[in-house]
Amino acid sequence: MSTLQNTRILLVGGSSGIARRIAKDALAAGAEVVLGSRRPEALADTVAELGSGASAVHLDLDDESSIAAVTTLGPLDHVVSLAANHANGPVADLDRAAVERAFAAKVVGPILLAKHVAPTLRDGGSFVFFSGVAAWKPAPGLAVMATTNGAVAVLAEALAVELAPLRVNAVSPGIVDSGSWDGMGDGKQKMFDATAASNPARRVGRPEDVSAAVLLALTNTFVTGTTLHVDGGGRLS
Ligand SMILES: NC(=O)c1ccc[n+]([C@@H]2O[C@H](COP(=O)([O-])OP(=O)(O)OC[C@H]3O[C@@H](n4cnc5c(N)ncnc54)[C@H](OP(=O)(O)O)[C@@H]3O)[C@@H](O)[C@H]2O)c1
Repeated sequence: MSTLQNTRILLVGGSSGIARRIAKDALAAGAEVVLGSRRPEALADTVAELGSGASAVHLDLDDESSIAAVTTLGPLDHVVSLAANHANGPVADLDRAAVERAFAAKVVGPILLAKHVAPTLRDGGSFVFFSGVAAWKPAPGLAVMATTNGAVAVLAEALAVELAPLRVNAVSPGIVDSGSWDGMGDGKQKMFDATAASNPARRVGRPEDVSAAVLLALTNTFVTGTTLHVDGGGRLS
């Protein structure tokens, strides 16, 4: 096992609820964290709350020059990308631009992160990319989500072989109370109750469940080319 002490970690999609928890846990383990997203100004409160060792940068995975600029941030040990853009709905109604944004956030962006950043990572470095349970549990209206998340798992295997000895892994959450469901209003609790009733783990996930898997992927030097499923067994129910 390696340690996160004195490492520097870039968290792309840093304004997500899960990213905030990873940042907190990584800081507690002695790392420095840089949170990147398209709206770094939205991260100001989070950075202030995280305190010393946390900072925010502008980073848009839909813009290759923004990704290339990561190499000017100074030495990094690990890159974790949680960025996601959704293009949900019946296939007949899908908007091409939305589909492309979804692929940019989850698939093309991570490929370009590997292209630009892998050559500059310190020895022992790694990538963690975010997949999701929809890849293993297809449902009507979620074709793009299933396909992008499935691609992330395959990408982790392909890059683990190509970029070795850098390590590359994926983390696949199930339904997690990360804040991203809060817009559902009253429907959120109903959906959570239904998920918990059918999950083998009998509950929905919490950001700390996912963060623990990310920290394992970052520090266990014998784990590469793997998707860690943190879904309460939801893909099987
Ligand atoms: N929460 C769940 O139940 C669940 C379930 C399955 C999988 N997951 C996966 O877990 C990850 C985190 O989930 P979450 O719910 O915490 O996330 P979230 O709240 O949906 O946040 C997504 C983040 O991606 C950033 N982003 C979007 N497009 C980007 C781009 N082009 N470049 C850079 N950043 C971009 C957004 O920030 P800006 O708008 O500032 O750019 C935002 O911070 C996601 O990959 C998600 O698909 C979550």
